[in-house]
Amino acid sequence: MWDELASRYEDWYETPLGRAVDEAERRALLQLLEPKVGERVLEVGCGTGHWTRWFRQGLGMRVVGLDLSEGMLAAARGQLPEVPFVRGDALVLPFRGGSFDVVVAVAVLEFVPKLEQVLDEMWRCVRPGGRMAVGVLHSRSQFARRRREEARKSPTTFSEAHFFGYEELLRLLKPYGPVRTQGCVHFPPSTWGVRTSWAFELLGKLLRPRGGAFLVGVVFKT
Ligand SMILES: C[S@@+](CC[C@H](N)C(=O)[O-])C[C@H]1O[C@@H](n2cnc3c(N)ncnc32)[C@H](O)[C@@H]1O
Repeated sequence: MWDELASRYEDWYETPLGRAVDEAERRALLQLLEPKVGERVLEVGCGTGHWTRWFRQGLGMRVVGLDLSEGMLAAARGQLPEVPFVRGDALVLPFRGGSFDVVVAVAVLEFVPKLEQVLDEMWRCVRPGGRMAVGVLHSRSQFARRRREEARKSPTTFSEAHFFGYEELLRLLKPYGPVRTQGCVHFPPSTWGVRTSWAFELLGKLLRPRGGAFLVGVVFKT
């Protein structure tokens, strides 16, 4: 299904809603991750390279992308020829332990069969002093509800997806080390939600830091 979706995958990011979501997610990740120019990043489940491009061109990091879908990787390679993209399974990462400053997976854990194994593998690839970062869709959000409804009407990539609660994400990450978390995308998926997204984000961060449609967690390896 990911192969089939590849040519259309980035279209959503070009919509006003997609842009607003993207901006909120990046801000949250930036705040928790504190990325530095030149750091080595492994992006697990990089898809078409949407986040890869930001890591590489926006943040000046040295990024490697990994994905299981050849179609998604072909799209990624097309737009970022300078970045190494590797076909592989998040369950068995083809890298030596401690090879990266940052190992990140955005909107990927929802789709993997063995969550703990993927996190173990990601953690293994983080060097001491590095960080593991994940971004997941919050189960109790209008965005997740919408994805579920769409999947009920006809099969989508979200048909088998697992969405996350805040406590669940914390429970998954805590065994690895000190965790920083933040919820973002507090605005509803509507035209007026997008127009006032800055206000939703400001208030949401203050009043519902564990809410929002997108949860980010970063663990520090000591
Ligand atoms: C929702 S997309 C996210 C892509 C990208 N991270 C983004 O946010 O734009 C999920 C991606 O995870 C990949 N994926 C799913 N299971 C995987 C696995 N076991 N190993 C590697 N990639 C996987 C899919 O091929 C797909 O590209």
